[in-house]
Amino acid sequence: MKKIMDMQAAGNLIADYPGIPLGEPERQLAFMDKCRELVKQKEEAAGRPMTAAVINFGCQMNARDAEKLRGILKKIGYIITEEETADFVLYNTCTVRDNANQKVYGRLGYQKSFKKQNPEMTVALCGCMMQEPEVIEKIKKSYRFVDIIFGTHNVYKLAELLYAHLTSKSMIIDIWKDTTMSVETLPVDRKYSFKSGVNIMYGCNNFCSYCIVPYVRGRERSRTPEEILAECRRLADEGIVEVMLLGQNVNSYGKNLENPISFAELLKEIEKIDGIKRIRFMTSHPKDLSDELIQTMKESKKICRHLHLPLQSGSSRVLKEMNRRYDKEKYLALAAKIRQEIPDISLTTDIIVGFPGETEEDFEETLDVVRKVRYDSAFTFIYSKRTGTPAAAMENQIPDEVSKERFGRLLDLVQQIAAEECGRLTGQTEEVLVETTSNHEGMVSGRLSNNTVVHLPGTEAMIGTFVRVRLDEAKGFYYIGTPVEE
Ligand code: 5AD
Ligand code: SF4
Repeated sequence: MKKIMDMQAAGNLIADYPGIPLGEPERQLAFMDKCRELVKQKEEAAGRPMTAAVINFGCQMNARDAEKLRGILKKIGYIITEEETADFVLYNTCTVRDNANQKVYGRLGYQKSFKKQNPEMTVALCGCMMQEPEVIEKIKKSYRFVDIIFGTHNVYKLAELLYAHLTSKSMIIDIWKDTTMSVETLPVDRKYSFKSGVNIMYGCNNFCSYCIVPYVRGRERSRTPEEILAECRRLADEGIVEVMLLGQNVNSYGKNLENPISFAELLKEIEKIDGIKRIRFMTSHPKDLSDELIQTMKESKKICRHLHLPLQSGSSRVLKEMNRRYDKEKYLALAAKIRQEIPDISLTTDIIVGFPGETEEDFEETLDVVRKVRYDSAFTFIYSKRTGTPAAAMENQIPDEVSKERFGRLLDLVQQIAAEECGRLTGQTEEVLVETTSNHEGMVSGRLSNNTVVHLPGTEAMIGTFVRVRLDEAKGFYYIGTPVEE
């Protein structure tokens, strides 16, 4: 039976690799070269190039990690594909809700048969779900064909772990509980040539009672402004015009640095970088959103007119149980202040229905906030019980039928308001950053500063450029427009 090598249990394996540097990123670059040789041998044996796919689940953080993982695999010599029958398949998992976990188990079911057909293929798992000990136990027991497992803290180590697997044929497991380490200078295979995510912080300290993220992403750690600015400048030099600053709670950025700095101050510094034309960020926690940030957004020419402000619930009682540290009134006052200062802003949100103990009256409070704030869009979720979180141990969990019925009502309201709000710019001329060709022949798609999608006539050559577009028609949640010469 296949052996299991647990890198944490095995302790320090450095001695096993004479000649490999200890410092990063040199160490990983050396492992990439070593893997390259092994992959070349595989190519020669098979008489064709080796392919790799990173299948991504979850949020923007995971999307960014996936770009890093693809960058490493490309450097090792794999041709990157989307096919789950590739020679190397890596699932970058999410565990925020149970259905994210179930999807991964479903995909692993298929992998078992792919691997029977091609025993040489390598199957790997990483990301948030792997930080849960029960998941690792289940994979060890029921999915023994998996070759490599790592978590959220050591994404940069892919080449080292792959090398360990290819040379030992064992199942390699390397899960870290937490880290202060980050390696951001390895190759990245970016999905877009003109926009990029930039991690500004990792982890989360908020411990919302329903949420598993603090347990799987670890404690909050901010990167230094110097590092972030250097990365943004490098991206600008490479032609990136839009950056998305990523963190679980960007509003608390910088508070724990040796030289503390606020998120607003960081934004002002990024604004000074010439080639960067648009700045976005995700995610804001309402409890930490400062007046300084609102003023900075108001005065900025580059920060996009969009704020994602997760509400979660409109009921002050439920918010308290959720440990959100704001109430309905405070949230409404904040939304009103933002709208007053930045009238053209688009507000979006996340909402959970069916949190333990949620009554019909609590749910009505949520609908009330949706009616008052009038979101441009909202991600709505049915509460999912996550083992180990305080909410999972709460009594009076809500029956599925009740949650589903409320979810339907919430979705109807959210969609109706979003459609009305989306139309408010009809007839105006706005700047669009063209992102992709559209499914319709002769059309391209892009985004407004406020993040709304616009379809317009155009060609592939326009991708990555800014175009002035008259917004002719609103179609629910997107516009059809015409480029205008001015
Ligand atoms: N159940 C349902 N939704 C959740 N979210 C986080 N944890 C849960 C959970 N246990 C939602 C929140 C968060 C978004 C990323 O996912 O709304 O803002
Ligand atoms: Fe999913 Fe949260 Fe992990 Fe993102 S941070 S992948 S949402 S569990």
